[in-house]
Amino acid sequence: MTTFDSITRPQRTEEAEGWSVPVQPAAAASGFEFDVAIVGLGYVGLPTALAYHGSNSRVLALDVSERRIDVIRSQQADLLEVDQARLSIALDHPGFTLSTNPDDLSRAAAVIVCVPTPVDEHLIPDLSILKGATAMVVDHAVAGQVLMLTSTSYVGCTDDLLVKPLMERGFTIGSDVFVAFSAERIDPGNASFDHDEVPRVVGGATAECEEEATKLLLRYVTNVHRVRSLAAAEMTKLLENTFRAVNIALANEFADICRSLDLNPADVVDAAATKPYGFMPFLAGPGVGGHCIPCDPHYLLWQLRKQRVAAPMITQAMVEIAARPNRVVDRVQEVLSGAGSGMMGTRVLVIGISYKPDVADLRESPALEILDGLIERGATVAFVDDHFDDVTLPSGAHLTAITDPGAFQAELVLLHTRHSSTDLTWIEPHQLVLDTTYRGVDVPQRVIL
Ligand SMILES: NC(=O)c1ccc[n+]([C@@H]2O[C@H](COP(=O)([O-])OP(=O)(O)OC[C@H]3O[C@@H](n4cnc5c(N)ncnc54)[C@H](O)[C@@H]3O)[C@@H](O)[C@H]2O)c1
Repeated sequence: MTTFDSITRPQRTEEAEGWSVPVQPAAAASGFEFDVAIVGLGYVGLPTALAYHGSNSRVLALDVSERRIDVIRSQQADLLEVDQARLSIALDHPGFTLSTNPDDLSRAAAVIVCVPTPVDEHLIPDLSILKGATAMVVDHAVAGQVLMLTSTSYVGCTDDLLVKPLMERGFTIGSDVFVAFSAERIDPGNASFDHDEVPRVVGGATAECEEEATKLLLRYVTNVHRVRSLAAAEMTKLLENTFRAVNIALANEFADICRSLDLNPADVVDAAATKPYGFMPFLAGPGVGGHCIPCDPHYLLWQLRKQRVAAPMITQAMVEIAARPNRVVDRVQEVLSGAGSGMMGTRVLVIGISYKPDVADLRESPALEILDGLIERGATVAFVDDHFDDVTLPSGAHLTAITDPGAFQAELVLLHTRHSSTDLTWIEPHQLVLDTTYRGVDVPQRVIL
């Protein structure tokens, strides 16, 4: 049975809020040199390491990639402003250690794993990175450590990749070492929610593990919601992202329906969102990207196939989501044809290629598939995006960003992602603008996807 309770961290003292206070020797009493090690310093791990450091933990920030460490050290990582500020302080502070050496892990009181869990081209979970990272953590585990998995994965993953291998090494879970799962909920590029203020769900392998993991999280988050098993915590994350996937698929379908009825989908969603209960707005768009929505539900579907359990609604939503970029290419063709033109040799300019505004993240971005699809149908394509100088598409085609969009003389402009810095002052003379964001109201000539 799963039971719940929430714990709130005692308020930080004013003194502790400052970034320059000496690091509390919390782990020194237990003989560890670091309070926490973060394994994997990507979109999730780096802000997490900085949040711990900002809460006076001595942090070992570990990544296998020398290149990534260099990017972080030279302050070139894609971070929110608040995290950029935290990083420049951390880099000058002895309580923040960057490393590529897994041997350092045994010097940390706690180890938090934040490595990617992608899917392959057949949409099958690719667990190789997670398996490599957890094997490394298990190999270097020492008595007294709290080991926490935060990467999204299938139900039972923490048991398979941490609990069982640790037991094989002779550890007693819950007394020698403490194992927990608590998925990250960070939304890169979104400054509206303070990372520390987003509640965390945690489940432990035993009650003692849950207790130790809760204490670990409360070092920087204000609220922890406890569930009484690893599996319940893992499933919670899968529900969160599957919920979003299904609703995005619905929003896309509804947008198509609205357009066929000559209605503006954004207006309809905004109107429905005035209902204070029972409705949550989801926006239609050109598809989904990142390593969450296009990937996470496939971890669940993959696992359910083994159990011979059907999940038709989730399956259909993921099929629709995967088909969306191709729908955009079809619509480009439709709009061109409505204007008496074809695709062959037509100049199409794509505005914004990252998967969402204000992040320099191309992972699974629909723009990549859309650009490839346009090229395949004979269009001459170009893109502008303040975050990228060039891009290599899945087909292998390489494109360099153009710097003067007006000079490209596009016959059709495709609004894909609008960063806060996107300049559209040059767009007015362009008569064919296809808006896949549904929000380009300042471009009166646009047609919607
Ligand atoms: N990005 C998001 O929006 C987001 C949000 C919430 C949760 N998540 C989940 O968090 C996890 C991490 O995602 P991310 O976006 O931070 O990934 P990422 O690709 O941005 O970064 C992962 C980092 O891990 C490093 N790495 C790989 N193997 C390693 C190893 N064995 N040891 C040390 N470092 C290693 C890589 O070099 C890379 O720097 C995923 O499971 C993802 O689903 C992501």
